[in-house]
Amino acid sequence: MKTGIQRSALIWTLTVCFFANTWGQDSTQKKWWKESVVYQIYPRSFKDSDGDGIGDLKGIISELDYIQRLGVNVVWLNPIYSSPNDDNGYDVSDYRNIMKDFGTMADFDSLIKGMHARGIKLVMDLVVNHSSDEHEWFKQSRSSRTNPYRNYYHWWNAERGKPAPRYSLFDVNHDAWRYDSLTNAYYLHYFSRKQPDLNWENPRLRQEVYDIMKFWADKGIDGFRLDAFQYVSKDTTFPQFPVGYENKFWLYYAMGPHLHDYLKEMNREVLSKYDVMSVAEGAGNSFDDAHALVDADRKELNMAYAFDGVDVAKKEGYSLLHFKEVFSRWDSAFAQNGWLSIFLSNHDQARLVSRFGNDSPAFRNPSAKMLATFIMTMRGTPYYYNGDELGMTNIGFKKIEEYRDMSMLNEYQHQKDLHADTIAFLKEKSFDSRDNGRTPFQWNKERNAGFTTGTPWIEVNPNFKTINVETEEADPNSVLIYFRKLVLLRKSEPTLVYGKYELLDKENPDVYSYTRSEKGHQILVMLNFTSHEAMARTGLDLTGKKLLIGNYATPSRSGRLRPYEAAVWEMQ
Ligand code: NOJ
Repeated sequence: MKTGIQRSALIWTLTVCFFANTWGQDSTQKKWWKESVVYQIYPRSFKDSDGDGIGDLKGIISELDYIQRLGVNVVWLNPIYSSPNDDNGYDVSDYRNIMKDFGTMADFDSLIKGMHARGIKLVMDLVVNHSSDEHEWFKQSRSSRTNPYRNYYHWWNAERGKPAPRYSLFDVNHDAWRYDSLTNAYYLHYFSRKQPDLNWENPRLRQEVYDIMKFWADKGIDGFRLDAFQYVSKDTTFPQFPVGYENKFWLYYAMGPHLHDYLKEMNREVLSKYDVMSVAEGAGNSFDDAHALVDADRKELNMAYAFDGVDVAKKEGYSLLHFKEVFSRWDSAFAQNGWLSIFLSNHDQARLVSRFGNDSPAFRNPSAKMLATFIMTMRGTPYYYNGDELGMTNIGFKKIEEYRDMSMLNEYQHQKDLHADTIAFLKEKSFDSRDNGRTPFQWNKERNAGFTTGTPWIEVNPNFKTINVETEEADPNSVLIYFRKLVLLRKSEPTLVYGKYELLDKENPDVYSYTRSEKGHQILVMLNFTSHEAMARTGLDLTGKKLLIGNYATPSRSGRLRPYEAAVWEMQ
């Protein structure tokens, strides 16, 4: 028999153990999606199999061995659903079908089979903040005010006057309300006119989305990347926002009133029923927001995908001190609980090496490797965008006719309408436009870099004769070969996945040094972010230590790093 005191001590111990086990457990709790390396494929630009100049699913299938050899174990595919392609697939007209340019459902089935046979998981982009205006739901919705699909979207009847302004990211006038004379009403579109926002406040719409998710999960996919999801919940009274809100529209748009209710519901209805990973694009406006999305105890999503890091180099030039500060701050916010994605590029950004490294012939190779070393040695799941593993660079279009991105073309028109300096605008865009990251993948030295036998939908970067898979496969010093070694290292060193991150030599403006440690094992990472020699002042002695990987043939133990040198040491 236990005494009352013994009993309450036991209850107390059990309670403490329970909370210690749930609260704060998450960042060290083992999960396949934490141990994965995600490779992002932009299907339109990856590989064309039928000569129409547009990449397709059969093209990806033909390169599955290449993807497997990279060592990555998750592929995130940008949208492949039926779409009129106003925004390259981010305007879906049928969520259960494949875009004609990309192939058929049979191709999709072969793709997933081929991936799984090679141990590669597939994450699909789920675009449900908005659909295409060519989706049947929208056609129905706009047809009459009493149509059962009317409430699938946000309408504002014109006799109520003009609704309070809302900023559209892609509209030529940045006006997110589009008047439709058919029913004398405005519909809402945060993105382009052809991307009307879905009404998540309508439970029927939400159920449709969950059914779509189940359709793909039943096909065997392994995860969802939720496009623009932080914007789905809206205050449907559409109140007036303060003057100038459009300069910080995300503060007003993100994390709307019911977002967490919807995520919990989605988790209950779909995510919890499958072994899938989930990541939402954007992570709100604060750490608290980001946390709340991925706190394991809340049962919403797995992984935050925050933009503070990639935004450090929005324009040309950035400070390493700022870069270090942002990544260290985000890491510490997630040290106990939650999980982050680590990335410096994607299909909405200019090329990694051109923005954060140095794409001149002398430094492209070491700086691309240095940046890859950073991404693969931070805590959080690494995301690598196709082509970055070769060190592909910005194309830097000079003329508006060369661009394909609708958001760029609309913005150019907008600048013209304002009589703004379009020359300065084009100069800025040649550095930061997202078309820089969308030029065809460079496979070999042949015509169109081996991407297509036809005319590519967007110009191939003329540097493909030197930067391409075939050439890099044959060069032991290439970015590609180094990338593969890094992926192997990441996958074989749990310390790089779960180990605690600690910033060293914080005030050093040239070198980023940090340790990752776990269970008495410690790894030191030193990265020179400059084109000159620089000294790392970590206070750690490298004598007798083992170099795990580095981008120069001979390691230097003095802490003096050569231009863009990266060195990863095993300390204990
Ligand atoms: C974010 C996607 O990454 C981007 O490519 C797209 O244009 C917008 N969301 C709208 O869907």
